Amino acid sequence: MKRSEINSLIHHAEDFFSEYKWRLPAWGYWTPQEWSKDPKATEKIRSTMLGWDLTDFGLGDFSKRGLLLFTVRNGSPDNRDDKPYAEKIMIVRDRQETPWHFHWEKVEDIINRGGGTLVLELNDADRETERLTERSFTVEIDGIPRRCNAGERVELSPGESITLPAYLYHRFWAEDGVCLVGEVSKVNDDNKDNRFLDELGRFPTIEEDEAPYRLLVSDYTGL
Ligand SMILES: [Fe+2]
Repeated sequence: MKRSEINSLIHHAEDFFSEYKWRLPAWGYWTPQEWSKDPKATEKIRSTMLGWDLTDFGLGDFSKRGLLLFTVRNGSPDNRDDKPYAEKIMIVRDRQETPWHFHWEKVEDIINRGGGTLVLELNDADRETERLTERSFTVEIDGIPRRCNAGERVELSPGESITLPAYLYHRFWAEDGVCLVGEVSKVNDDNKDNRFLDELGRFPTIEEDEAPYRLLVSDYTGL
């Protein structure tokens, strides 16, 4: 992705978060220069990968398959007892898909915090082959169990949420408008805990055609 495209998506995201009165931590609004002032103080933020995150899953068409996220809190994958939880805020655009994946470790609640309808498709994963199965399964929608068939579609209106257990394949997109989506989960490890059904990239390759407006978590290695 071009840095100019990433910059404009982050500008838009800041406006969108403001519309929903969602304020980020102070460092969410830092310039790259502010990040380099005191790298020692931000060690934990960087090692747990808090902050701006954006991906086109390596497919080069962000509006069709992509996701913009901001990780607000997270524990360390190497010391999960210290802080065993994570929280993200995300923007899912109309018909913008996050492709099939599951997590080996992470259990996550996905929450529609406002905007359009969040549509999820769900499928149990085979524990050995890690492919889709034909099995039915049960998920909880705001604590209420729902029996689902393989590939079942679940629609979440603003305010509603779903608990996705480990090994449950999911893909999602928004309909009837952009969605502000929350995620509350066990520790998040984007380096090791995403099992995509098709081989996809998790972090974008960036063409530096202008200076970054905000640093992404994948930019922290340069500090
Ligand atoms: Fe997920």
